[in-house]
Amino acid sequence: MTAKTKIILGIESSCDDTSAAVLVGNQIRANIIAGQAVHESFGGVVPELASRAHQENIIPVVSKALESAQIKLTDLDAIAFTQGPGLMGSLTVGTSFAKALALALQIPLVGVHHMKAHILAHLIDDASDHKPSFPFLCLTVSGGHTQIVQVNAPLDMQVLGFTIDDAAGEAYDKAAKMLGLPYPGGPLIDQHAQLGNPTAFQFAKPQIPELNFSFSGLKTSILYTLQAAEKQDPDFRKTHLNDLCASIQNSIVSILLQKLEKAVQQTGIKTVAIAGGVSANSELRKRLLEKQTKGWQVSIPKMSYCTDNAAMIAMAGSFYLAEGQTVGQEIVADPRLKW
Ligand code: KG4
Ligand code: ZN
Repeated sequence: MTAKTKIILGIESSCDDTSAAVLVGNQIRANIIAGQAVHESFGGVVPELASRAHQENIIPVVSKALESAQIKLTDLDAIAFTQGPGLMGSLTVGTSFAKALALALQIPLVGVHHMKAHILAHLIDDASDHKPSFPFLCLTVSGGHTQIVQVNAPLDMQVLGFTIDDAAGEAYDKAAKMLGLPYPGGPLIDQHAQLGNPTAFQFAKPQIPELNFSFSGLKTSILYTLQAAEKQDPDFRKTHLNDLCASIQNSIVSILLQKLEKAVQQTGIKTVAIAGGVSANSELRKRLLEKQTKGWQVSIPKMSYCTDNAAMIAMAGSFYLAEGQTVGQEIVADPRLKW
């Protein structure tokens, strides 16, 4: 007799996106995401506004996910939610909702690590053209994290390198803010970069040992470049926007790829994946695909599984569930959840 295909509701609320997804086996039937435009004018996520918006969005988003998946609450086998890391108020909304629903339905509850879920998104059926085989290296790059992870099995992951200051997404967002672009600036820098010259400006390169990253020097270098140029041309940020964006993008992607190359050399693992919000970046995707000529097997997730989404939470949840890793009603959100 074969085991019954599990139906899992995933809930994600770690930052400023409220998302719910329905996973049936390895297939995503619905992945609904409600963003929060309210933060744009503040130049970053305002935690208090984020948790209030999650409270407003959570019920409509879950209802819509179930409806479009054509799944009834009573069909669900388990509920997986993001336990951390993330913003306390935001995480608490998803955590409380998931706990209450699991209690009402009397079904298992699974607490998921947000960054591990970004990586496990690769194992969703329609995640990419090339599903990575184990072991693989994953560059996880988001607004809060930058890591190189060796993934031996779904629940056996080892962090080989990490950022000692800003995350790659944070570097994008802070650079965008300096250029007068709204939050989140990463996608906007990516857009303007398409029209600019990537070698127009040179910025400081970090000298960080091993497989670790640093982006704070780049940030200072961009600021000094802008301040010096504006002494001659007060409109410099506007008149050179595309070239600045292309050069900043070139610097960030080069820093990321240089460490990834080092990790491939050190481990001998040539199966390489990217995950997290910054994996939506067009330059990173392009330059990674070029590595295929060097014998790398490259996995790039489809866009809707790059930035925050509940599909990845449901997928990760199914692996935790298969190993019996469920949690009880005493579970609480953990903004600094350990790896
Ligand atoms: O994974 P994510 O959605 O949320 C976190 O867990 O942090 O990542 C958000 C980050 C933001 O910093 C955003 O600017 C960046 O991902 N991002 C991008 C692009 N799309 C999103 N950065 C560069 N290029 C993009 N196309
Ligand atoms: Zn994320």
